[in-house]
Amino acid sequence: MSTGKFIVIEGMEGAGKSSAIAVIERILKQHDIEYINTREPGGTPLAESLRTIVKSVDHQEILTVETELFLMYASRSQLLANKILPALAAGKWVIGDRHDLSSRAYQGGGRGFDETIMNTISDITLKGFRPDITLYLDIDPHIGLSRAKARGDLDRIELEQMDFFIRVHNKYQEIASQDSTIVTVDAAQSMADVHLDIEKSVLEFIAKTALD
Ligand code: TMP
Repeated sequence: MSTGKFIVIEGMEGAGKSSAIAVIERILKQHDIEYINTREPGGTPLAESLRTIVKSVDHQEILTVETELFLMYASRSQLLANKILPALAAGKWVIGDRHDLSSRAYQGGGRGFDETIMNTISDITLKGFRPDITLYLDIDPHIGLSRAKARGDLDRIELEQMDFFIRVHNKYQEIASQDSTIVTVDAAQSMADVHLDIEKSVLEFIAKTALD
């Protein structure tokens, strides 16, 4: 049995990740491909507890940027070992709502951890493991944040200032432009066009994997 594939959806708040994931699920179902969904931070009981800590605005003390960084990777380590790798080994595909690229963008770009630090902690955690394809939904942070605000209560990270999100966005674009496994989708288009782009990329990817 061949191993499954790891498809990741990335993008800033308000980019439309949830509806993009629904499009991918529909296509995988049409192709009779078994899959599981993951989200980061989170995705296992322990990692979900870490997600709650990371997102909470109710701490009695400041959550340092170093703690935030380690919590993201602690969560990722739990998810990789307990869900992603076993699913892939069993031949299932994994649709990831965020993965390492989020840490590169938010902690690397947004918080300013340099590339050496990011590479080191990523290597310790992932040991070279990478998604097979990442669909990055690119949205201007002003538009994305106003969509997220319209949705309701903002979490601790969503409450950051605009300059933080501009740094996150710049880092996303920088990394996406240098990595051929990342497909950038213009998320400012109409939802129908965004979904068409996603569909095209996923169908191409499925066709390519069938030849492997
Ligand atoms: P979301 O999954 O609901 O978008 O919330 C996750 C939040 O955590 C979002 O603001 C992005 C942030 N985040 C990081 O800062 N670093 C990471 O590595 C991940 C996975 C998420």
